[in-house]
Amino acid sequence: MSEETLETLKRYRVRVENVLGRLLPPAQSTPTDLHEAMRYATLGGGKRLRACLVYATGEALRAPLEALDHAAAAVELIHAYSLIHDDLPCMDDDDIRRGRPSCHKAFGEATALLAGDALQTQAFTVLATAPGLAAATRIAMVEALAQASGSLGMAGGQALDLKAGPVATVETLIERHGRKTGALIQGAVRLGALAAASEVPAGLDHYGQALGLAFQIADDLLDVEGVALVVGKTVGADAAAGKATFASALGIPEARRRARALYDDALASLQFLGDNGGLLASIARYAIERDH
Ligand code: IPE
Ligand code: IPE
Ligand code: MG
Ligand code: MG
Ligand code: MG
Repeated sequence: MSEETLETLKRYRVRVENVLGRLLPPAQSTPTDLHEAMRYATLGGGKRLRACLVYATGEALRAPLEALDHAAAAVELIHAYSLIHDDLPCMDDDDIRRGRPSCHKAFGEATALLAGDALQTQAFTVLATAPGLAAATRIAMVEALAQASGSLGMAGGQALDLKAGPVATVETLIERHGRKTGALIQGAVRLGALAAASEVPAGLDHYGQALGLAFQIADDLLDVEGVALVVGKTVGADAAAGKATFASALGIPEARRRARALYDDALASLQFLGDNGGLLASIARYAIERDH
């Protein structure tokens, strides 16, 4: 990744963190444990890939950054909620998230559950109140984020994940991963596009879909090959839970090849943007080559 790309992504990360810090309820406001848990889970690190996708997509379509702030924050709020719930004992039962105790380990299960609930609703408040956007745009964004995170998207994918066993066909994995992770990543691209234009260009929709699936294949590979201290979460969790992943079902080389093919596919669908698609192309490459 070029210095310039790294700088841009860092600028996006810092920017969304400031926006999130401002939009989340202060830790001192009642109920303090709930608000502390919301801030802990949202502000405690993370790559901010989804926020970067909102900003990069919007900028590629010439939207000003100010018009993208609330969308970038909203998608990170949904993501943070999904991670809190994903780590709960009734789901993946993971103790470590972003290199520190997962939310329920730090605040207890009941508060973690409520923090997830409240982050989810906060995401929609944030979209509904996005400054500088027409009401119709805000409604379209609310719809896009709700679809990406509901039973046809992330929550549905998590339900499929709960039923996952040690054996799976590629078709089943594509559906499960596409929903549990792909939908919100595709949703981030959609939000960025909606802030800039009244419709999501088909090429960008395809880019988001391919990238979302590639991202979860990389996550599966990190669960096998990653270094816990770098990844910031327990590795080997999928195998311990007896869950088939791209890595276990296809083997590492073939899972890698699939991620690469999806990356190529994502790049091809950016062609209509010409030079303006360069940053989105770099993000896609990062999604499959990352070490955390
Ligand atoms: C982890 O997402 C959960 C998945 C959907 C694979 P990220 O890898 O984007 O997590 P953070 O936000 O960087 O911690
Ligand atoms: C997470 O998938 C998907 C969501 C949180 C929606 P994983 O369960 O593989 O994510 P990690 O590995 O715990 O981050
Ligand atoms: Mg999970
Ligand atoms: Mg998990
Ligand atoms: Mg995982």
